[in-house]
Amino acid sequence: MYTQAMDTMGKEAGDAGKALRSAEEMQRQEAFDARIDAGEFIEAKDWMPDHYRKTLLRQISQHAHSEIVGMLPEGNWITRAPTLKRKAILLAKVQDEGGHGLYLYAAAETLGTSRDQMLDALHTGRAKYSSIFNYPTLTWADMGTIGWLVDGAAIMNQVPICRCSYAPYARAMVRICREESFHQRQGYDALLTMMQQGTDAQRAMVQDAVNRWWWPSIMMFGPPDDQSPNSAQSMRWGIKRVSNDTLRQKFIDATVEQARVLGVTLPDPDLKWNEERQAHDYGAIDWAEFWRVIGGDGPCNEERLGARVKAWDDGAWVREAALAHAAKHAPERAAA
Ligand code: 3HC
Repeated sequence: MYTQAMDTMGKEAGDAGKALRSAEEMQRQEAFDARIDAGEFIEAKDWMPDHYRKTLLRQISQHAHSEIVGMLPEGNWITRAPTLKRKAILLAKVQDEGGHGLYLYAAAETLGTSRDQMLDALHTGRAKYSSIFNYPTLTWADMGTIGWLVDGAAIMNQVPICRCSYAPYARAMVRICREESFHQRQGYDALLTMMQQGTDAQRAMVQDAVNRWWWPSIMMFGPPDDQSPNSAQSMRWGIKRVSNDTLRQKFIDATVEQARVLGVTLPDPDLKWNEERQAHDYGAIDWAEFWRVIGGDGPCNEERLGARVKAWDDGAWVREAALAHAAKHAPERAAA
């Protein structure tokens, strides 16, 4: 095959050049596929197919944006936390989410796209972030419920990403998952305190929060497998290790028992144990709502994006000052 391409070189140099390149590409592609099949990790400096790079960039940058936008609904409650202890915990949690965003932007930058480019895609509405953060946080019980359900769903989705074939993403996820686990527990603990030591009004507030967050939380796993355009290829490449529906099912199964201990009802009359499947059956998910929210028409999309753009614009002087400072001290650093 390679020699055929070389034979035509004299006559059709352009085409032959292309053929030669594509033969090389095919060899690289085969070597890459073999490494994926063998369960090896891919590092930033390794050759990778363009589509693999783009898929990772799409997923990691969306993930990073989700962490940063995810600071907003909870950040709203830092000044209204009921005790100093809860305020300190919430402050630490929101700060952790900012850190997660930074690890992920750094992982995505290894694929050759700058943080400014990724943020521009977010600010101009070209990039997605998790649907869940387009819902409002109406009461203090929403803080506990987000920790329990939203961070719980995030962990279920993210633990398999610690084995993602792209090593910089996998490494970032190990640390993120440890912190997410603390987030989930603090949320559950806050709800348990309200349910066990609170007033009737506080228990009703928890139930109301669970009613509002349950369905959006199980939508976080993404569309059903048969309507997920990216899943098959991402699973083939080991970017995704477990499918959207499988993770959703695992999350539901784990959460039912936690709800029972908490003393809340999950707002799904069709939720019941299926002995044959050894899993819970659950009611129909409103996928029209899901697509509406990720399409920009959720309850808080405008507010969330507006807050991010404002923060970026308000921070322009800080970025300029940092660059000016770095430029001023560059000669000293070069001389040292
Ligand atoms: N919100 C927004 N968009 C979503 C979505 C959701 N919950 N679920 C799916 N989508 C989008 C996909 O991004 C894709 O759009 P695109 O092709 O334009 O990028 C489209 O819907 C079709 O979905 P697919 O299932 O084909 O897409 P993926 O294969 O990428 O799977 C995913 C979607 C499961 C979310 C996967 O991208 C993933 O695991 N991402 C990493 C984890 C992540 O981003 N989590 C965010 C959760 S929040 C968080 O981490 C913060 C924490 O503090 C709570």
